[in-house]
Amino acid sequence: MYTIDEIQKLINDYIDNQKFEGEPKELYAPIEYILRQSGKRLRPTLCLLACDLFGGNIEECMVPAVAAEIFHNFTLVHDDIMDQAPLRRGMETIYKKWGSDVAILSGDTMLIKAFQYVLNTDNKYRYEVFAELCKVALEVCEGQQLDLNFETRDDVTLKEYLEMIRLKTAVLLGSVLKIGAIVAGADKKSQDVIYEFGVEIGMAFQLQDDILDCYADVDVFGKMIGGDISDNKKTYLYLYALDMAIDEDEKELRKLFKMPKGRDEEKIKKVLEIYDRYAVKHEVMAEIEEMFDCAIMRLVTELDVDAERKNVLLDYAKYLYNRNK
Ligand code: IPE
Ligand code: IPE
Ligand code: MG
Ligand code: MG
Ligand code: MG
Repeated sequence: MYTIDEIQKLINDYIDNQKFEGEPKELYAPIEYILRQSGKRLRPTLCLLACDLFGGNIEECMVPAVAAEIFHNFTLVHDDIMDQAPLRRGMETIYKKWGSDVAILSGDTMLIKAFQYVLNTDNKYRYEVFAELCKVALEVCEGQQLDLNFETRDDVTLKEYLEMIRLKTAVLLGSVLKIGAIVAGADKKSQDVIYEFGVEIGMAFQLQDDILDCYADVDVFGKMIGGDISDNKKTYLYLYALDMAIDEDEKELRKLFKMPKGRDEEKIKKVLEIYDRYAVKHEVMAEIEEMFDCAIMRLVTELDVDAERKNVLLDYAKYLYNRNK
């Protein structure tokens, strides 16, 4: 079995050897730019870890794994336009550097490239993998639309929020793990268990992202702090604070989240003060811990694989649990 470091090195080497350039260069330069950045490579890592867990040949799984990373980066390029985000991975976002028109088109190109990667492989699971990618890509779009819809709604429920993050973030983690299992030839039940494990850690992963968006160190996180507040995103933090806040605080919070979308330092400061008064960060961290525990329990109890084979994936889950970027 491979270690996490070995798997990540294989992924980075593989991506380093890919050429994303082409003509017109205005279309391809942003693709090179984002794919050469130091993302965590979480999705391909999960994909290969799952393949290895079920005894598959991870080389056979490299193409779908990298396709998932390209797809993920495509979602980031478009997401940064929607969220008006200036910074990602410590660098200027594509839409800030080259404008929205270029970001839309380069993003589209990446989406197509991702599917082309899968299509160009000669693998008996190609159709199944392709179908899984199509399914999850649609779900991500659905989640992203809900996320946008919620910006201008003041009656979003926790249940709706959880469904939104399941779609925009969590199912992709489930799907990459499932794809790894498919390529390894794992049975249907195992595919389902690993998928659910991925969705669970994916939900926790998005809650962490929401916390980091408010409390991280910008130099480590690489994204602008307070972006979600600026965009009136109805995150778990906001919904919990609204639920707990009394009288003036509740009124103030609602009012602040009705302001026009856009950066306002004073607004961010006021919202964070309200969050602090109700120990919102603490509450969300507890929720994250519970989600990770649940996911880990599922892997330990429901997956019919030798216990020690599960350790690498469990260690990776622990790394994610402790992440600060
Ligand atoms: C960011 O994903 C988008 C979310 C789903 C929160 P990552 O945190 O995996 O971003 P990179 O690829 O490591 O930059
Ligand atoms: C994005 O959620 C999820 C997708 C890109 C599909 P966010 O908007 O919170 O991601 P970041 O924080 O910009 O990376
Ligand atoms: Mg977003
Ligand atoms: Mg965003
Ligand atoms: Mg975010």
